[in-house]
Amino acid sequence: MKKSINSILGMLVVMLFASSGPPSSSDSGVGIWISYSGDKMVEQRVDSLLSLMTLKEKIGQMTQFSANWSITGPVMSDDFKPYLDKGLIGSIFNATSVVGIRRLQQTAVDSTRLGIPILFGQDVIHGYKTIFPIPLAEACSWDLALMQRTAEIAALEAASDGINWTFAPMVDISRDARWGRVMEGAGEDPYLGSRVTEARVIGFQGGRGGASLGALHTLLACGKHLAAYGAAESGRDYNTAELSEHTLRNIYLPPYEAAAKAGVGTFMASFNEINGVPATADRWLMTDILRGEWGFKGFVVSDYTGVNELVPHGVAEDEQHAAELAINAGIDMDMTGATFIKYLKKSVEEGKVSEQAINNATSRILEMKFLLGLFDNPFHYLNEDRAKQNTMTPAFMEMARKAVAASVVLLKNEGAILPIPKEKAVTLTLVGPLMNDSINLNGEWSGLGDRNKSVPILKGLTEKYKESAVNLIYAEGSSIDETTPGRIAEAVTAARRADIVIAAVGESFHWSGEAAVRTDIRLPEAQRQLLQALKETGKPIVLVNLSGRPLDLSWEDEEMDAILQAWFPGTQGGHGIADVIAGDQNPSARLVMSFPRNIGQLPIYYNRKNTGRPVDLNDETVDYKSNYLDSSITPLYPFGYGLSYTTYAISDLSLDKPSMKATGDSITVTATLQNSGEVDGEMVVQLYVRDLVGSTTRPVKELKGFQKVPLKAGESKDVTFELRSEELAFHGIDMKKKTEPGNFKLWVAQSSDDNENETTFTVE
Ligand code: NOJ
Repeated sequence: MKKSINSILGMLVVMLFASSGPPSSSDSGVGIWISYSGDKMVEQRVDSLLSLMTLKEKIGQMTQFSANWSITGPVMSDDFKPYLDKGLIGSIFNATSVVGIRRLQQTAVDSTRLGIPILFGQDVIHGYKTIFPIPLAEACSWDLALMQRTAEIAALEAASDGINWTFAPMVDISRDARWGRVMEGAGEDPYLGSRVTEARVIGFQGGRGGASLGALHTLLACGKHLAAYGAAESGRDYNTAELSEHTLRNIYLPPYEAAAKAGVGTFMASFNEINGVPATADRWLMTDILRGEWGFKGFVVSDYTGVNELVPHGVAEDEQHAAELAINAGIDMDMTGATFIKYLKKSVEEGKVSEQAINNATSRILEMKFLLGLFDNPFHYLNEDRAKQNTMTPAFMEMARKAVAASVVLLKNEGAILPIPKEKAVTLTLVGPLMNDSINLNGEWSGLGDRNKSVPILKGLTEKYKESAVNLIYAEGSSIDETTPGRIAEAVTAARRADIVIAAVGESFHWSGEAAVRTDIRLPEAQRQLLQALKETGKPIVLVNLSGRPLDLSWEDEEMDAILQAWFPGTQGGHGIADVIAGDQNPSARLVMSFPRNIGQLPIYYNRKNTGRPVDLNDETVDYKSNYLDSSITPLYPFGYGLSYTTYAISDLSLDKPSMKATGDSITVTATLQNSGEVDGEMVVQLYVRDLVGSTTRPVKELKGFQKVPLKAGESKDVTFELRSEELAFHGIDMKKKTEPGNFKLWVAQSSDDNENETTFTVE
């Protein structure tokens, strides 16, 4: 059997080269290879195998193709089969199922000279078959354990279906809701974004670092997209990012660094240029910062044709030049573009790329294959029984349902119209294009999730209120972007019979995700017409909004009685939303992206700078201030905001000391939290600071800590935060990261605009 030939070969080369081992050096990037695992045995196996490989075979390992069984980008003309047959592919993505993957793996292992196994990748972003709420939604739970758990389940499901590597987590900071990819990340804040990144990396890889790689419930993870992909001008996908090094380092880079520190095995380069240099060709970013400053030792994959795109970017003459720029910057694997495999051998022969650079990249990729156990058994992950056992199990469904309730943000609740308990004798008229819809619920990047299996809200509510005092009527009224006077009239007639109208509205799932940018982020005209007509009935309306981004809900905020932001909630969407509507779950989610009042405010984020002419938020009309003539500068709903069916209060904020040293010191912050209402709940308590004077300007507020605290009705608890001086460090005028002495304000708050509990401290 080839399997044993492989292991014999592995053992043989280990024995042969056991004494040599790879050279070690402090050099990074295209210097000398330094292993990710630090495991001498693995290093020797990599080194030994490398010595048996031809230059072309090495470059083959640096080549990734899409099988195109699912499509996640422009389909390329190159067929991967001839490369596979010759052992010139390192990785394949978008190939799924145990049977399908086994077939490809068999070719690689049994029919090629060295029989090196393929690494199978896939975008497992918010679930594989069990689909959880979109990552932006889950981040609103501020529940790191929950996010780790859903990543673990996604890893188990995907790994049981033969996948080894996920292109997740996406950790790009997002400040502009026009950009469709805000749905994939954790929103606008670098501190929260970093914590969420760690939770997701740990979830996918089965722990911090790579120690669990190779266990059958884990996936190799990929921090993406390095870097500042979310800073695309005007939110237009793939667009230029033009930002200062201060903003890059203080706002955009922290989550990528957190991924590196959590031990992520791979990174993906972003499509965009930053300050004139496309990330794929940016040696400063891919080598000096990533490997030099952060100590990353895994491998870097380009994004889909990101190498070829150096030509239209205008930094490469042709694809050979593009391949040279990419590898010399620190890209180890070329996703789908086939530039490495076509040109790098020639570039080495012409002396434009060193063989050492090829050896490094190949070694990094081979090491991951060794760590994943693929050399010991290339068919290790391929077992139909396991795939069956670990797919959409009742436990996964339960977790998915819980994740929905934890991610839904209650934005408005006039007159405590929600919840609507089962015992309440009312008639609810259910309307809207997303009420009886399952197709959109999974949102974009939903892996192999079967859209027909997702639970529509109508079904969730019907089951919830079955044999209860609540009576339901349904009339759709409008599709996502079309309606007719007749359909609206039908919904209005139904609404007249109701005590309360519940309207499920929002976006189509493919209006967010990659290449899905909108310049108008209001609800489509058809849905606004429907809501306007319903409003005229005088009935109270609960709006359930499903979208992959913050929308401009200014009109709805004025006119609707309650608003639940339900994002795209995934497989168990209908049940999770029904749990919240009926009050079986008390909403506890808090926004991680500001909701603008209008599109003109974008980009908008809470951690803005003060400017030299700050506007007084109590009187924004004053002239010659940094304000708008026709809008407030504040968002409609700020970062950190979200309501609950209970009320909370914070009091007795105190510090254990008034000052701390700039290094190695900390202040203990204490405050009392109270559930001042009548329903049990969970409060997201947030710690913000403001550095009053810096060597460069500082944000008006910065999140530095948070906790999610369960509180029974009426219960009080003390909460403490350890604020370490290092948490206050930033890249200042000399671009060195440090904590500067001076005075700070500090708040323990319920959202980023809550200034009630404020104190000060000093850094000496
Ligand atoms: C392009 C996307 O930018 C990236 O996030 C994704 O992982 C790849 N396509 C593969 O589908």
